[in-house]
Amino acid sequence: MAFKNTSAIKPFEKRIYLSSPTMHGDEARYMMEAYETNWMSTVGENINEVERITCEKIGCKYSVALSAGTAALHMAMKLAGLKLYGQADVGHGTLEGKRVFASDMTFGATVNPIVYEGGIPVFIDTEYDTWNMDPEALEKAFEIYPEVKLVVMAHLYGTPSKIDELKAVCDKYGAIIIEDAAESLGAKYKSKFVYNCPDGDRGRRANAYWRETGSFGKYNCISFNGNKIITGSAGGMLLTDNLDAANKVRKWSTQARENAAWYQHEELGYNYRMSNVIAGVIRGQYPHLEEHIAQKKAIYERYKEGLKELPVSMNPYDEENSEPNFWLSCLIIDEEAMCKQVRGEKDVCYVKEQGKSCPTEILEAIASINAEGRPIWKPMHMQPIYRMHGFITKEGNGRARTNAYIAGSAEDVGMDIFNRGLCLPSDNKMTAEQQDRIIEVIRACFE
Ligand SMILES: Cc1ncc(COP(=O)(O)O)c(C=O)c1O
Repeated sequence: MAFKNTSAIKPFEKRIYLSSPTMHGDEARYMMEAYETNWMSTVGENINEVERITCEKIGCKYSVALSAGTAALHMAMKLAGLKLYGQADVGHGTLEGKRVFASDMTFGATVNPIVYEGGIPVFIDTEYDTWNMDPEALEKAFEIYPEVKLVVMAHLYGTPSKIDELKAVCDKYGAIIIEDAAESLGAKYKSKFVYNCPDGDRGRRANAYWRETGSFGKYNCISFNGNKIITGSAGGMLLTDNLDAANKVRKWSTQARENAAWYQHEELGYNYRMSNVIAGVIRGQYPHLEEHIAQKKAIYERYKEGLKELPVSMNPYDEENSEPNFWLSCLIIDEEAMCKQVRGEKDVCYVKEQGKSCPTEILEAIASINAEGRPIWKPMHMQPIYRMHGFITKEGNGRARTNAYIAGSAEDVGMDIFNRGLCLPSDNKMTAEQQDRIIEVIRACFE
């Protein structure tokens, strides 16, 4: 069944994207500086500057500029594995055979680096308040697997997780946190914990205070991928308060050379360092981060207002204790307003019902006017590659929970949000008039 634009809403001449790069001019100047000074390499002033600016912005002591957020996450896993389980033999990962708890509703790059290091991801279900890792499910996971010592958490679509609750559970079980802030650069969270000890260890304090996402875990990551809130066209960073960790990543990411006149190696190296040309783009983007966040917030608020009469709600956040970067605006359809939608591995169909709709119909409607939406990131426990991996909900083991002889179904929050939610066009260059047209076409789906 395909959506028909019966209200004849005019398509946009130029496509409205989900989230595309927005350049301002200084990016080209810094790139040219790299060219003219011949620092066309993985060293240079642009790299030094973006590392300095990032530490200042996030409030972390050290940052290491890398080729991608995925590379940063890989380095974070390796650091955590080394700290927890010691040096691995060559050809073996530092997390080999070890379970690692991970956000379930996230992009694959949050969890794949666990596997690069030989680890076994166990997925933790999502909560409805922020669409991030559920602290209750995390607690259940530690009850089932008390030996686990590493937790990787993402802040989906730029919305901070319930960081204090998650951290309290991790502290109780003595686990290290890796924070994937790839989507949430510039998002803030009001925490009750102090985060200023040399080794990144923490205590509690009476008054909550604001901190940036990417400053809560022991080893954290941000991304400058082309679709992110600011971009270098590619790029990422490892963030930490630990000098030894930062130095290790500088070494590993530049082929792990020992201090000798010739190429001398005692451990496995990678070619993960950021180019000074890419760093020039990021350097030119940083002064515009707050402006991009303000534009994205205005888009979120406009959707919220424009869709308020419909049986939908926006991706939620904790208004008192968090300030997202509003990277992507999303909606979720009320259960009663969902028409039948069936998704296979790659195909989907739905049965239109008057007054009801589904993400597929809305995405088709948006596409019919030349704008780009996207399904919610499909949860990791539903991905074929991870189909046999553990999945823990707040009720306990999320696999094999139903019984053919007993009525009832198992709760699976991630699957529910995936079924009923979608990402809306959230490009910061979209005008209010263009956004109104998108809102109009969404309204038409519920007629
Ligand atoms: C949550 C999340 N983690 C990690 C990444 C990986 O970042 P990169 O594309 O820079 O490798 C992305 C996006 O690309 C992401 O959305």
